[in-house]
Amino acid sequence: MLSKTPHALETFEATNRAWEAPVAAFLTALCGDKERHARFLNTLSQMEHVGSRKIMMSQAKGELPQDTLKHLAEETRHAFFFKRAAEKLAGRTLDYGTEATLGGNAARMYMGRLDAFIADELGSRAPSETAYLYMSLIVELRAIWFYRTYQAALTAAKHPLSLKSVLAEEELHLEEMLARLDAIDPALDAHIILFSAYENARFPVLWGEIAGGN
Ligand SMILES: [Fe+2]
Ligand SMILES: [Fe+2]
Repeated sequence: MLSKTPHALETFEATNRAWEAPVAAFLTALCGDKERHARFLNTLSQMEHVGSRKIMMSQAKGELPQDTLKHLAEETRHAFFFKRAAEKLAGRTLDYGTEATLGGNAARMYMGRLDAFIADELGSRAPSETAYLYMSLIVELRAIWFYRTYQAALTAAKHPLSLKSVLAEEELHLEEMLARLDAIDPALDAHIILFSAYENARFPVLWGEIAGGN
């Protein structure tokens, strides 16, 4: 079960190889631009917040098992972590409006479309937790890929921000999502390929708005 984690992540990394250099270059430049860096951190906070909100919404009708509640608490903490870092850097409070984010609307759209695609593909006959698990799984793959690259840029720039605890939690979430899906979905591999392909097609749109945002 857990052996699927490196496999899923390795496949994702291989598919996204061409994005590593441009994303790393953007992040390195960002570390030297306080104002934009603050807005970028605030965008990550917004995405973590949207993620945590989606977990909450997905549980609206059911019970909230302890592992899901833990996941929710951790994603909410990530939103807080990035908000605090963003405001510290900006030296002021930041809302999630377009002036205070980079590509904030695109970020909301990215999460919304991914969620809708997964729910549509799974259909109404799938158990309600399946869509939540896949949405989380695909977002975790991107988050781990991205936060690793971001941490490397922060370290190279000698920036004091550390993503270590966030990254460790995202890695655990990925393992948990894979383990839970492996137990309930015989089409796990095919679904990961399908949903990753959709995410990989949406990411350039999101990234274009974030990197081009002014
Ligand atoms: Fe997170
Ligand atoms: Fe997570």
